[in-house]
Formats: sequence, structure tokens, C-alpha cells
Amino acid sequence: MLANRILIRDALVKNPSSEAVVSGWIKQIKPLGKLIFITLRDRSGEMQLIAKKELDNFKVLSKVTRESSLVFKGNIQESKQKSGGNELEIKDFEILNQAETPLPIDVGAGTSNIDKRLDHRFLDTREEKINAIFKIRSKIYKLTTDFFDDNDFTNITTPKITSAGVESGAELFEMKYFNKKAYLSQSPQIYKQMFVAGGFERVYELAPVFRAENSNTTRHLTEFTGIDMEMGFIQSESDVMDVIEELFKFILNKLKKECKRELELLGVNPIVPKKIPRLSMKEVKEMLSEKGKSLLESDDLDSEAESIIGKIIKEKYNEEFVFVTNYPWEIRPFYHMKPEDDKNGTKSFDLIWNGVEIATGAQREHRYNILKEQAKEKGINLDEMESYAEIFKFGCPPHGGIGLGLDRMVQRLLNLDNVREAILLPRDPERLTP
Ligand code: 4AD
Ligand code: MG
Repeated sequence: MLANRILIRDALVKNPSSEAVVSGWIKQIKPLGKLIFITLRDRSGEMQLIAKKELDNFKVLSKVTRESSLVFKGNIQESKQKSGGNELEIKDFEILNQAETPLPIDVGAGTSNIDKRLDHRFLDTREEKINAIFKIRSKIYKLTTDFFDDNDFTNITTPKITSAGVESGAELFEMKYFNKKAYLSQSPQIYKQMFVAGGFERVYELAPVFRAENSNTTRHLTEFTGIDMEMGFIQSESDVMDVIEELFKFILNKLKKECKRELELLGVNPIVPKKIPRLSMKEVKEMLSEKGKSLLESDDLDSEAESIIGKIIKEKYNEEFVFVTNYPWEIRPFYHMKPEDDKNGTKSFDLIWNGVEIATGAQREHRYNILKEQAKEKGINLDEMESYAEIFKFGCPPHGGIGLGLDRMVQRLLNLDNVREAILLPRDPERLTP
């Protein structure tokens, strides 16, 4: 029967009184004496199916459990229901795999808590709205690679087993590597700079990033998908912000067309940026203090500050994004470039979307002697990082880049309470399965 299967999407618009074969999972089954009503779900949608008492094995069908997978052959007829469309009168069926009872989670009812849902994620993602989150995520991934490809960036794949990191603050996972110590990559930072200098000028990578952050928040994972890019021969960090602004215009414009159904299902109508405001950390701190939130000159923005800034930007500019620029040197890694006239600043920025940081970027210091001095200031000996130090000795051009978190992007786009809703199988200090 499966050989003639068509998708529910197509069955819903097929000519009435024609024959069709559909298959999927049982979302609902209601045996009502002489009739059985079934809501069947496949990857393309949902449809009502009806069986009459005369059907062979009517009794067997009436006992089929929710979330079982079946294939049905029948006649298409116009539905008498208000929702319209077609339904299928069942003439024959085959049970492909009967689901055990009880189900470990209440698929689609929204009554199971997130921990239980994540324990049985493959059942959870059958629910249309949850499925939609990952259709959107998949599309963002594709659109991101399309954008970089269209803009002359080369996709690079760099090692995730490494000997050291450069992100001060971000914790490393140590691993045994034969008779040596190795670490899971906390960022492709070194490698993307390496291959800007390696003649590609513009590189990007979408890959796992590992952070041994022992914190349980709604925005931190220990393994997430990083979107990293780096570009050479720039004049300043503004060139990087320009590209990222275009990236978000591209993604959101396309997404609104290509994921219309999924966005509607989730009740989300994202604002495509017209012009992303660029405000210095100093300006942002002044705005915050007007709202009663005081921070020191050298302080980073905490999650409360980011959330307030998100609201101010929405009110003042009707934008969901803001670049916060000129971060203090004290809270940035050694490789961020300092402005000529400000020894306590950096040519760096964060991108905040709906009140949460989704990216950090900067112009990098490409002059070996200055970089060595900056490393020293942070207590790092550049020459001990031989393969990194070498990049700056043989014609490395001025360059800059950014690291975005795909999981955070999905979370902010869809206003999900927890970043764990935006990733299929989250890893955090407590969770290592499934
Ligand atoms: O801000 P981060 O640590 O910056 C870097 O990794 C730099 N190498 C980027 C650069 O090119 N200068 O990480 C970048 C982004 C964050 O803004 C956030 O979106 C995401 O990665 N991220 C996390 N997402 C989930 N869980 C975590 N623990 C994350 N840590 C960072
Ligand atoms: Mg950051």
C-alpha cells in the first residue's frame, strides 16, 4: 500500500470520489458505535478519516492506540465539518507499528513538563507546534549558509578536538587524548582568523561549540550550534555589523514567506530590521540609569540590563535588534582591537535580539607586537600559543568577525521561555541523555 502513498497536504485538495492512500500517526481516535473517527498526522499536516461498521477488521481498528503508525486506503470525500477540506472514508488499512500504552508523555496536550518532554523528545516533536520550531530552525540554518555563500564567504570545517582555547571566561571541557590532554572546542575563533589570513578572506562555519558552564539558566547550554564568520581587509568593526544586519534582513524576509504556516502556528510575526540601532556601551548605560538600573563603567550587561534595553529599543525605534558597541577592555578577550584613542575600550559589539545577547563580535588585533602586549595585559603569553601567534607574522590583514548562537536565535525569534525548547536534545550540567 505504501508504494501509492500521497501526503495529507495533497489528499486534502484531491478531487472528491477519487481513491487515495495516506499514512502517518494516529493523533486521535474516537470509536462511536458504528463509526470510528480518526485524526491522522503526517509530516505535511492533519486529516480526518472515517471508518464504517462494514469495514473488514473494524474492531481491530477501533482498538488502535494513539501515536501508532498506519497506512490507509480509501475514498476522498468532502468533509461536512465547518473546517472544510477533504476527509477519507477508509476501505482498507494496515497497522505499521502499534504504540504501547500508556504514552510516556501526553503528545500535544501541553500538560507534560519540559523535563519529561525532553526525555521522550521524539514523541514530543510529533506535536505540530513543536515540529514547527524545528522546521523554522532548519530553514534559518539553510538561509544562513545561502547568505554567506551569496556574499562570497567560504564554508570551513575546523577541529572540535583542540589543544587550547582563546575565549577567556568560557570554560573548557577537558578530555583524554591518548597520552595528552585535549579540550573540546569552545569557539572556532583561532581557525577562522587563520583562514582569513589563509587567503580565503571571508570564512564561515556552522558547528557545535562546547562550554563547560556549570550554570542552570534558560539561555545557557553546554553544547550549542555556533554560527561563526570572519572577514578580512575591513576598515572597522562597522563592516562586520553591516554584513550581520544584511544577514538578518535576508533571513527574516525569506522566513516570513517560506515558513508562513509555521510562524502563524506559533503566533509569531517577526519585525524585519529597517536599520539596527548602534549604541555605545556608554549611551546604553545612560539609558539604563534613567530606568533606575545603574552599572559601573567596567560592568558587563547582565540579563536584566539586556531585557530593559530590549524594551527601550522596541519603544524608541520599533526595532527588535540593537548593536551595543565599544565594550570595555576589562570584560573582553585579549584579541579584540582597542580604538586608537581609548586604551580602556575595544572595537567590539554585542547583538541583542528581543532583550537577549545572541552574538559577540569585534575587529581583531592583527599587529603581532600590539597583540602580544594585549595578551600580556590579560596574563597570557602569546608565544606559548605558537600556531595562533604565527598567523600574525606573515601578512595578516585587518579583520573582524562575529559568533552567533543558533539556539539563542531560534529562542529569541519565537519568544521561547527556555533555550532548551529551541534545540532537539539539549546538553546542560544535569542532562546527558537521550
Ligand atoms: O559571546 P561568545 O562567547 O563569543 C565568542 O565565542 C566569540 N568567539 C565570538 C566572536 O567572534 N568574537 O559566544 C557567541 C554567541 C553568544 O552571543 C550566544 O549567542 C552563543 O554564542 N552562546 C551560547 N548559546 C547557548 N549556550 C551557551 N552556553 C552559549 N555561550 C555562547
Ligand atoms: Mg558574548
